[in-house]
Amino acid sequence: MCRPEHFDVSYVINPWMDPSKPVDTALALLQWEALYSLYRSLGHRVDLVNPVPGLPDMVFSANGATVVDGKVLGARFRNVQRAAEAPAHQAWYRANGFTEIRDPLHVNEGEGDFAVTRSWILAGRGFRCTPEGHQEAQEFFGRPVIGLELVDPRFYHLDTALCVLDGDEIMYYPQAFTPGSREVLARLFPDALLVDQQDADVLGLNAVSDGLNVVLPEAAQKLAGQLRTRGFRTHGTDLSELLKGGGSVKCCTQELRF
Ligand code: ARG
Repeated sequence: MCRPEHFDVSYVINPWMDPSKPVDTALALLQWEALYSLYRSLGHRVDLVNPVPGLPDMVFSANGATVVDGKVLGARFRNVQRAAEAPAHQAWYRANGFTEIRDPLHVNEGEGDFAVTRSWILAGRGFRCTPEGHQEAQEFFGRPVIGLELVDPRFYHLDTALCVLDGDEIMYYPQAFTPGSREVLARLFPDALLVDQQDADVLGLNAVSDGLNVVLPEAAQKLAGQLRTRGFRTHGTDLSELLKGGGSVKCCTQELRF
């Protein structure tokens, strides 16, 4: 995770961002601290990457890399405003014992567009990650990458529209995808939890699951109920300040898979 010390909305690269709306950085820090403490109370180790001044979106650490089987695929950002986040994340991995680190040739924004299930890597495209970025991930990880086409600019990253719950169990918002990609999802995940517009609109899908606990935006009330019916423990979290940057729980959380 990355403390939102320098968080701000000073440019627009997604429809959630409006620089004319004031951002309360102190409140963003408090909300972020609550998420950090929650993970630790659930028994998870959380490492921190140092925030870099002048990189207001760096709090969205999920975009910094994708880690599978201990291998690190670095990020290459679509927008110049975030470009310098990529080397900052790669430096963290080098300093923390990771040896297989790839600096990518093609655009990919880490776990923003890559979701790892037991059998596949699901990969979003249309706004940020490119098909070449998908190919690069497949070649690097040696796992089948399933490309999914996003259509709604408010759901510009896969992790705003789809979340892995456990193994090959996922939840997603169908309307964020093209008809063809919806069919692919229905074919691969016939038992998926389908999320409605109301819960998707509050970034309810921008959640993190450890297979038992699901940490999600607290405004996604109906979704939390559906998850409990499936046997998950839900932990609603208020990240309203970070939502002004277009991100929530998952965006703030880079997962390390060994
Ligand atoms: N303002 C950031 C951007 O548009 C938000 C990134 C959110 N992160 C995420 N994993 N969806 O790039």
